Amino acid sequence: MDKLQEALLAWYAKQGRHDLPWRHTNDPYKVYVSEIMLQQTQVQRVLEHYYFQFLETFPDLQSLAEASEEQVLRRWQGLGYYSRARNMKKTAELTAKSGLPGSFEQLVKLPGIGEYTAKAILCFGFKQPAAPVDANIKRVMLRLFGETEQSRAKALAQEFLNTQNPFEHNQALLDLGATVCMAKSPSCLLCPMHSRCRGKSEPLRYGERKKVNYETKTLHLLVAQKGERYAMKKSADTLYKNLWGFPERKKPPAKAQKLGSFKHSYTKYRLSVNLYLASEKTLPRGCEWVGPQTLPTLPISNLTRKAFALLER
Ligand code: ADE
Repeated sequence: MDKLQEALLAWYAKQGRHDLPWRHTNDPYKVYVSEIMLQQTQVQRVLEHYYFQFLETFPDLQSLAEASEEQVLRRWQGLGYYSRARNMKKTAELTAKSGLPGSFEQLVKLPGIGEYTAKAILCFGFKQPAAPVDANIKRVMLRLFGETEQSRAKALAQEFLNTQNPFEHNQALLDLGATVCMAKSPSCLLCPMHSRCRGKSEPLRYGERKKVNYETKTLHLLVAQKGERYAMKKSADTLYKNLWGFPERKKPPAKAQKLGSFKHSYTKYRLSVNLYLASEKTLPRGCEWVGPQTLPTLPISNLTRKAFALLER
């Protein structure tokens, strides 16, 4: 075990992604923000468009707690899985005075913080010997120990945890999973633990990915225009809750002219989106007329952005 841990740390010292900003902070809040963003989003996208911008607008729990949900969603715009942002705001409201707690039991009680995130905050934010297991670490553990039983990954990570240096150990595992021990075509010969890896002869047997069951769905959106303003509505739908978009109809409107359609993937959905020209009379309740000055202040989804792009064309 010690030899493996040492080999991993030596590899990390040379090959690790040391420039990631959340690895150079002692502020648990910044670690928390990074971990929530990284749950469903690639490192590169988080770095380019979200992490710094979010922290500039909401540098601490207080500012996040005091912001409106709309402001928070606006900063999250395009990242998807918007409940992450709504939960962060709730968590900030609960912890603004006291700070994020440094115990597992208290962390997992907070909205949007599950077992992985709690352990990641403990390890990366509070430098405690916790063993977070995300999809990457899980795969590394199952392969390294030749384990096909998925549910064993957490116990293996706990046993393998380097309690002297938990921070670097876990960051190293994340990097190894992302850059060497990849799901589809791992580069086993580059792995520092290759000689002792029990899964190396059949890496694809271990830690296979969960199959996503995609659902196809068709959306019918109404486009009503008054000069430069469009009728838009705050969504009550759980996925896009409180984001602004074109009003939706359950069925295609009977006589309306179809303006175009496009495809969009979001979470488990494969959406076909149809746009129809609509008159004011046919709009559902709760629409507002949004002009070019207001639009940039409202949180909108990538789906709505695509709809606007289609209208421009
Ligand atoms: N994914 C989740 N947490 C991460 C981290 N700290 N560094 C890189 N990728 C991650």
